[in-house]
Amino acid sequence: MEETITHIEYTVETAQQLLTMEEPDVQMLYKLADTTRREHMGDDVYIRGIIEFSNICANNCLYCGIRAGNGKVTRYTLSADEILEAASVMATGHQMTVVLQSGETPALGDEALGAIIRRIKKETPLAVTVSVGNRPRDTYRYWKECGMDRYFLRFETSDPGLFLRLHPGSTLQERLSCLADLQDLGVQTGSGFMIGLPGETLHILAQNILLCRELDLDMIGIGPFIPHPDTPLGEKKNTYDDNREMFFKALAVLRIFNPDAHIPATTAYDAVFPGKGRDLALQRGANIFMPNNTPACYRKDYLLYPDKPGVDDSADQCLGSAVVRIRALGRTVGKGPGHSIKGACVAPSPGKAV
Ligand code: 5AD
Repeated sequence: MEETITHIEYTVETAQQLLTMEEPDVQMLYKLADTTRREHMGDDVYIRGIIEFSNICANNCLYCGIRAGNGKVTRYTLSADEILEAASVMATGHQMTVVLQSGETPALGDEALGAIIRRIKKETPLAVTVSVGNRPRDTYRYWKECGMDRYFLRFETSDPGLFLRLHPGSTLQERLSCLADLQDLGVQTGSGFMIGLPGETLHILAQNILLCRELDLDMIGIGPFIPHPDTPLGEKKNTYDDNREMFFKALAVLRIFNPDAHIPATTAYDAVFPGKGRDLALQRGANIFMPNNTPACYRKDYLLYPDKPGVDDSADQCLGSAVVRIRALGRTVGKGPGHSIKGACVAPSPGKAV
């Protein structure tokens, strides 16, 4: 087996084969992922503070707790000043990137969001990542002119039929063309997928990993699908409910196939493995941590899935526990923005450890 994982062919078949590894071989897979991460990304873990600035959404994605059709959600949008206030405290900690995320509707308006990006770039030293869904190329271009550094848009699944079933009125092709626009504009681009969506086969999971590689992404975020009771998939189970190791195997194979991408240990790992999911993710390929910086009073209204950790914590507590967890793993907190190391958009940051 060792031979198999020391000579990687980047094919769907190889990915699928690696995903089927069991104990004790799977430990070799994790070791290879961790070594790949260390050799390519170093021991720095970059902390990106996320602000979920609006939960208003026009879409009806079957899995998502803030889908338009969920009437139980209290909708909110932060004011520009609230966003700026949350962003400006970040740089006083170790958070040199702000991730602005919302539902897929221009709740603030494209120009208002552009003005916020400009203010953040002017008033703080932060890198800005935006994650607000499919938008026209001109909008992406405008935000880039305003100073947007990165954009994050998951393709969710690489299977066109499954994509269509999960996203009424929207196609995988449209999503991929948004990603192509962003890359073409020179925006550092992130994407990714959920693991274990109903209808997802192991082959699709392997294809998801391959698609990330083919897209040559700067950032890749993945995480387990967690059924939300107030959605059409509320009664469904994650495909790997009885085999949760698959969530980590997917992450490890993702790292091996995408050595130079920034890969976050996403919050969903902590939802499935309370208190330790993100730590294990950092040891099996991930190199980014994203503490929640949404003002506390809004958090309970941004539940894409249930049992989301950190809902009752302050931004300070989220940051503090991130730093403690990173250091407990013997890793260092990344300094500087932690830009893409791919070189196309920006020179790699020196990323000195603290
Ligand atoms: N379980 C896990 N992840 C989810 N997301 C949305 N709903 C769920 C869910 N029920 C993820 C999607 C989206 C990201 C912001 O959150 O992948 O892109």
